[in-house]
Amino acid sequence: MERFHTEKSKALFEDTCNYLVDGVASSFHRAPGEEYPIVMEYGKGSKLYDVDGNEYIDYNCAMGPVILGYNNAELIEAVTKQLQKGTQFAAPTPQLNQLAKKLTEIIPCAEKVMFQNSGTEAVMCVWRVARAYTGKNKIVKFEGQYHGWSDEEKVTIDADSVEELGPIDNIYKIINTKGQRIAAADDIIVAPWNDLQALEKILKQHSNDIAAVAMEPFMCDSGPILPQPGYLQGAKDLCEKYNVLLHFDEVITGFRMALGGAQQYYNVIPHIATFAKAITGGYPLAVVAGRKDIMDAGVHASGTFNGNPVSVAAALATIGILERPGVYEKFQKLGDRLCHGFEKLSKKHHIPLFCAAKGSIVELQLGTAQEATTFRDFLQKADIEKYQKLFHTAKAYGVRITPLRGRIYLTTAHTEEDIDKTIEILDVVFSQI
Ligand SMILES: Cc1ncc(COP(=O)(O)O)c(C=O)c1O
Repeated sequence: MERFHTEKSKALFEDTCNYLVDGVASSFHRAPGEEYPIVMEYGKGSKLYDVDGNEYIDYNCAMGPVILGYNNAELIEAVTKQLQKGTQFAAPTPQLNQLAKKLTEIIPCAEKVMFQNSGTEAVMCVWRVARAYTGKNKIVKFEGQYHGWSDEEKVTIDADSVEELGPIDNIYKIINTKGQRIAAADDIIVAPWNDLQALEKILKQHSNDIAAVAMEPFMCDSGPILPQPGYLQGAKDLCEKYNVLLHFDEVITGFRMALGGAQQYYNVIPHIATFAKAITGGYPLAVVAGRKDIMDAGVHASGTFNGNPVSVAAALATIGILERPGVYEKFQKLGDRLCHGFEKLSKKHHIPLFCAAKGSIVELQLGTAQEATTFRDFLQKADIEKYQKLFHTAKAYGVRITPLRGRIYLTTAHTEEDIDKTIEILDVVFSQI
C-alpha cells in the first residue's frame, strides 16, 4: 500500500493563498498541522476524489451535512426541479409550508420553527428567543462546547490543558480569536458538562439572570463525550426548577442520531433546539425549533436567504429518504461494525481506544479504553496527538476522518465493504502511528 501523491493539491493551495485569506473558505477546511489541505474534485457515494485522482473513503462528510453520500440521485433530482423553478423569491413557497409542518411532526420539541442558514445563526437566534421569552440575559454554556463562531458563541470552546480552563467553580471565559469583542462574553457563564451539582450551583446563584442553558446533548464537536445516564433529564429538571430554558444544540446530532435528533434518541425533550448540517444532505439551511409559546416570544427571523427554496427542496428530499424504514438501524449496524474493527486494531497494535456508535455518528477516543466523561477528563485521558497522527496518516492512504477529536460520520451510501476496506487500510495506518 502506497502513500498518495498530492502535488496538484499542494500547488493549487499555494496559489489560492495569494488571493484567499488562509487559502480556505473556512478555517476548518485545513486541519491543524496540515501543510496543505487536499483539494477535492468531486464526490460519489461514500467516496471523494481529489485533483490528483486519489480516492478517499470519506467519514468527514463535509463536517457533517452529507448524510446521503455525495451526489445522491434523488437529492439531485429534487434540487434540479427547484433550480428550474427559481432559486430565491423572498416570499413563502408551498414547500416552505410543507417543510415547517414536517419538522413539527418529526422533532419532538418542535411546535413551531424558524429558518436560518447556518448553525451559528440559528444559535444566535435561539438565544435571542430565550432572552425575549424569559426577560433574562445570561446564557450558560459548557466548557469545550462549540456553538458557532459569533463573538458571544465562541467562548471557552477549547483548551490545551485543564489548567487553561481555570477552576471548576469559576471557569475562565477563553476568547482567542483576533478581533473578537470580549464584552460579548459578559452574559455567558461557562459550566462543566455532565456535572449536575455544578449546574445546580450556578442556577441557584444566578437563576434570576439566566435565560437558557445551552448544550450539545451528545457532546460531539468537542469530544465526543456521551451524556452520563440521567444527565440530560437531570439538567432539564434543574432548568424547570429554576425557571430557565433548556436549549439543545442539535446542529450535529440532529437527523444523525435519529430523525428527531438526540432528543428523540434519549427521550429528553428540551424547550428549544437548533438544527443545521445534515438536515439538507449538503445545502445551507438551519432551523430553530421549540415550544409554541416560547417561539412566539416576539423575535422575528431576518435574513435574505432564510428558507432558500433550493435548500428547502433538499431538506424535504433528505428527510423523505431518512424516514424510510431501516435507515437508522443500518447506520447503527455499520457504526458497530466500524467500532468492532477499531477494537480489533486496538488489541493488535496495543493502542488503547474507546469507540461507540450512536446512529450515524461514531465517536473515537484514542489513548484511553475508559471513556472520558467530561471535557477535563478528555483533555487528561485522550491522546490528542496520536489522533492527529491517525488523521494525517489515514488521509495519506485514502481514509478521510475529521481532523479533531474522533468524530466519524456515516452516510446512507456507506457499505459493509467500505467499513471492511477502511479497517484494512487502518491496519497499515495503526502500524505507523
Ligand atoms: C454543535 C454546533 N453548533 C453550531 C455550529 C455552527 O454551525 P455552522 O458551522 O453551520 O455555523 C456547529 C458547527 O460545527 C456545531 O457543531
